[in-house]
Amino acid sequence: MQKVKHEQWASGFTFLLAAVGSAVGLGNIWRFPYVVAENGGGAFVLIYLAIVIVFGIPLLMSELMIGRGTQKPPVAAIQQMAHQSKASKLWNMLGWSYVIVPLGVLTFYSVVAGWTLDYAIAIGIGSLNNLQEGDSAKIFQELQDSPLKLIFWMTLSAVITIGIVARGLKSGLEKTVTILMPALFVILVLLMLYASITGEFIKSVAFMFDPDFSKITPELVLMAAGQAFFSLSLGAGSMMVYGSYLNRDISIPKMAVGVAFSDTLVALLSGFAIFPIVFAYGVEPTSGPGLVFVTLPIVFSDMGWIGQLFGFLFFLLLAFAAITSTISLLEPMVAQLSEGEKFSRARAAIYAGAAFWFVGIFVALSNNVLKDVHPLDFLPLFEGMNIEAVINFLAANVFMVLNGLLVSIFAGWAIKRSITLEELGMGDSMLFKIWFMLVRYVVPIGVAFIFYDVVL
Ligand code: PHE
Repeated sequence: MQKVKHEQWASGFTFLLAAVGSAVGLGNIWRFPYVVAENGGGAFVLIYLAIVIVFGIPLLMSELMIGRGTQKPPVAAIQQMAHQSKASKLWNMLGWSYVIVPLGVLTFYSVVAGWTLDYAIAIGIGSLNNLQEGDSAKIFQELQDSPLKLIFWMTLSAVITIGIVARGLKSGLEKTVTILMPALFVILVLLMLYASITGEFIKSVAFMFDPDFSKITPELVLMAAGQAFFSLSLGAGSMMVYGSYLNRDISIPKMAVGVAFSDTLVALLSGFAIFPIVFAYGVEPTSGPGLVFVTLPIVFSDMGWIGQLFGFLFFLLLAFAAITSTISLLEPMVAQLSEGEKFSRARAAIYAGAAFWFVGIFVALSNNVLKDVHPLDFLPLFEGMNIEAVINFLAANVFMVLNGLLVSIFAGWAIKRSITLEELGMGDSMLFKIWFMLVRYVVPIGVAFIFYDVVL
């Protein structure tokens, strides 16, 4: 065996924290509630949960396995796995997709991370106190109308991400996740309790869990798959690269279940913190990406000075949760570029960072200066979408899902069974057979079917 000289997580627990740090972020707290609302509630949540279990966990295992088995960044990892299994060289392209897609996600993710920073400061200094009806929607709109502010906060979140990734994961990430993630969780639980007591709790339960089966369409399933992949950090290299720092004696299936469980719990909690308020205050549930930023400030403002403190902490911790995700989005490309000392880590972080930052500027402008630019208007699926919406949809609902489809084919058909057997460490058990059947047939056929119906 060759010696591995790169970093390794201190323990399985550290890995779990880092992987949960990647999975839990704006996807759970910002994106989940508004996508649930836009897709009508219960039916969406049901399909979402099914996808997490049937597609999400097996794919998490596959990505972790490819990373851990080779101890290499995505492009090199897929190349090596393909080589060992005598599979086609064409698979190398999948590796590149695994490092480029996360940069695409970063272009809008860093903009929204910027919103959270702006809100943390605004609430902290008291400018969101005593909100009257309609105020919070106006305040959100004002932020969207301020290109310079948006670019400033986006740049700040980009610089923090680049700085941490440049120094290596260990120094930055481990401390952040051990303290701040649990703190965010506690605040979220408190918020949920407060919202449920003062808001429309029963209505929210019905909204989230009472499925109207007539609403299930191929589009809804694609949106749910996209949201599940996005939330679990799948199809974007993050889990693969984090897997490559994972020690050999740690159980991949257990880690995958742990990540999926925590991530889903946080998404549901955040739904229960937000929907009771949506219904109690008559906020339009379909108000789109602004939903969290419009609803929660109302609660904080109602709570008086405690709310001011809470609100400040909440948005600050949300910003940290976002940063633990942006780090995992930049890492695949940086690990790839600095593999074999082609570039130093710092240089790789700056190059990759500059690339997403530059495109991020256009995203920051897409709700104001460039709001009438609809780049793919000629395609019916993209009609009326601005730059942010196009990149968001393409990254989460098209490319991440497509990467997941290909990786399941790779793990189920291309990689030698003896390698997967050894890496997953479950022996030739029933569980292994279930995993094998899922990645071999269920995921590829399921995803291909959804795609065929919606996109083609
Ligand atoms: N899972 C993260 C979130 O929900 C976003 C993310 C996507 C991170 C893809 C890494 C890779 O916020």
